[in-house]
Amino acid sequence: MDAAALLLLAAAVWEPSATVRLLDEAKKITFNLTVKQLVSIEPGPWTESLRREYVKLIDGFFSIPFPLAYLLPFTTYGQALKARKKVAGALREVIKKRMEEKAENGGSIGDDEGKKEKKDMVEELLEAEGGSFSEEEMVDFCLSLLVAGYETTSVLMTLAVKFLTETPAALAELKEEHANIRDMKGENQPLEWSDYKSMPFTQCVINETLRVGNIISGVFRRANTDIHYKDYTIPKGCKIFASFRGVHLNSEHYENARTFNPWRWQISDKLQNAVGANIFTPFGGGPRLCPGYELARVVVSIFLHHLVTRFRWLLLGGPAAGRLGKRARMPPGSTGLPLIGETLRLISAYKTPYPEPFIDERVARHGGVFTTHVFGERTVFSADPAFNRLLLAAEGRAVHSSYPSSIATLLGARSLLLTRGAAHKRLHSLTLTRLGRPASPPLLAHIDRLVLATMRQWEPSATVRLLDEAKKITFNLTVKQLVSIEPGPWTESLRREYVKLIDGFFSIPFPLAYLLPFTTYGQALKARKKVAGALREVIKKRMEEKAENGGSIGDDEGKKEKKDMVEELLEAEGGSFSEEEMVDFCLSLLVAGYETTSVLMTLAVKFLTETPAALAELKEEHANIRDMKGENQPLEWSDYKSMPFTQCVINETLRVGNIISGVFRRANTDIHYKDYTIPKGCKIFASFRGVHLNSEHYENARTFNPWRWQISDKLQNAVGANIFTPFGGGPRLCPGYELARVVVSIFLHHLVTRFSWEETEEDKLVFFPTTRTLKGYPINLRLLSESIC
Ligand code: HEM
Repeated sequence: MDAAALLLLAAAVWEPSATVRLLDEAKKITFNLTVKQLVSIEPGPWTESLRREYVKLIDGFFSIPFPLAYLLPFTTYGQALKARKKVAGALREVIKKRMEEKAENGGSIGDDEGKKEKKDMVEELLEAEGGSFSEEEMVDFCLSLLVAGYETTSVLMTLAVKFLTETPAALAELKEEHANIRDMKGENQPLEWSDYKSMPFTQCVINETLRVGNIISGVFRRANTDIHYKDYTIPKGCKIFASFRGVHLNSEHYENARTFNPWRWQISDKLQNAVGANIFTPFGGGPRLCPGYELARVVVSIFLHHLVTRFRWLLLGGPAAGRLGKRARMPPGSTGLPLIGETLRLISAYKTPYPEPFIDERVARHGGVFTTHVFGERTVFSADPAFNRLLLAAEGRAVHSSYPSSIATLLGARSLLLTRGAAHKRLHSLTLTRLGRPASPPLLAHIDRLVLATMRQWEPSATVRLLDEAKKITFNLTVKQLVSIEPGPWTESLRREYVKLIDGFFSIPFPLAYLLPFTTYGQALKARKKVAGALREVIKKRMEEKAENGGSIGDDEGKKEKKDMVEELLEAEGGSFSEEEMVDFCLSLLVAGYETTSVLMTLAVKFLTETPAALAELKEEHANIRDMKGENQPLEWSDYKSMPFTQCVINETLRVGNIISGVFRRANTDIHYKDYTIPKGCKIFASFRGVHLNSEHYENARTFNPWRWQISDKLQNAVGANIFTPFGGGPRLCPGYELARVVVSIFLHHLVTRFSWEETEEDKLVFFPTTRTLKGYPINLRLLSESIC
């Protein structure tokens, strides 16, 4: 579909607060689009008069024809026959003209004959099979395309809107999806293919409309021969009706089959499996599979996009709006004891290796979205993947991320984690530019070196707390990425302060804590000052160097790759970042990547140790890589890319470990979801853990089973269905997601190829205040060969 055709769709202009018959409007769009595709004529008087005749022709399809009806022009069918003549005549005229033009040009079409893309269907026909199609064949062909797509696509559009209007939660989710697309594009930019491809919920709505609406309820066939099926014989010549509706609305195939529930299509592979099992055939199948099936989806998607981003028909006065108003209520739940609510119950559950009952009991009682009262506030808790998707995608619009003020103070006001709106977009994309390309050879070589340097410090048969070692690696790596400083006394003293700062994140802050330097939080505030001071000094020096060089950085200014994050910041946006902004920015990266990546490393080793078959398979994968490389060669991107089982281990560690168990948001506006209304200002927790460990989404969900990720497309589908979000999603998607994977992969490589180990004492996983093992996972290491490099 070309851009002009896409734009054409957007051109349906309605009066503000007009009343329209949606089906009529949908038909106008479909008709104009098809005419444009067939003969490249834009909407105008010609298309309008053609459409008037065409409507009569279409009416004829649904009337009862008399024999010799053409002699009785007053019947609908007679009118239709007359109309067909006129429509065919108009098309014939255009085709004739185009044939003449082609003949005048000596058989070629226009002067840009060499171009690949044909401008319309007539051009396609004129060129096809050596130009052997006759005028009449072309007319009939164009007419059949006009007929086939017109009613079907228009009804699909109309039903989608009707079903959405009757299902406010689905409408809300659809609106979110399209508002995000609109936000990313800017006001009047036309939609492109990549936009269409980022409308997963819209596709669910379309599938469900097709399933429930059954626009084509089935197809007729006639037997060409006796057909034997099961114990029956259907004789040659017999008419057969293959009912799609009978299958689509059968509760053997679809739970609550009569209910419009677009979320059912979010389950991974649902569409593919339903088509494969022949229980979803809205476009038929076999040699007569509808050739317009993708076009229809595109048209409806674009139509819905413009409708929901530009019009507020439902919320202003639709019937569902009234219903919503009457039924507006919070998700069900219990707010527990006065003041403390359910905080103590939550904390005591999350301080055990098995906090699931806290979520499970409430989900069983109230459903995936329930209300609780934790950390001093009424909070809506969501273990519902569809609602979580909505929350993540709506960041900065219907919701914003929310941290306690104590944490905000430690992070610094200009931290990436705290900024919002345009400033956040800027910083987030800058971070992605830096962290989102861990394929850079110097970075990989550096990670490799750093991991080995840490391991070299381990005595043969030493006992180490793995979490501490992992933290050293992560800290040193981040410092190197931020300011290019190698591990040494400077980084070590910075780290000592930094650890105090991190402790402060999990302490309970007192007001005026900075006056009480003996509390953990007071210590943290002091430490923040020191860490920020050290970073500020480096940044200042680099700013001075830049100024001395007349605004350029070093003598290799022309190079594309920046050496570190500070260089990236110094150059970004014409060097407009202030010193303080850069300090806060660096601090937030140090904070965000440190604990998370170190815990991921530690948990991966713990889960592998407890699952010997997985450890054996991982060892084999890495032994093979080592064999191919020779003893001391550092790992490269291609090595990282040939660690499929390692990626399964990492996915599964993220899923079972839930290092970030969910994210807090605050509603910027009343949020309507399903039958609930979550009022503006309310706190919401999108629980990833509640989804990752739900056996509806994962078989034996509580078992560490890395092999489950070996199924093809498993990861992609799980991410698509929003049942795998260890790195969040939407505008705040973790920019370090690939870097974390690379670091852990390289760490595991060196660990399993050089060491064997065993736990020295039993260690427990806990999830409050953060996910970690209680004792930092002490292990006894044994070097496999003499030296590690
Ligand atoms: C196992 C490793 C990691 C996990 C599980 C993880 C998880 C997450 C999650 C869930 C978020 C979303 C927060 C929200 O939506 O409110 C996030 C954001 C973030 N992550 Fe990560 N992360 C990891 C590693 C890293 C690394 C290595 C870095 C950088 C060095 C990093 C930097 C960030 C930053 C800067 C944000 C804030 C993004 C924003 O607010 O726009 N993360 N991370």
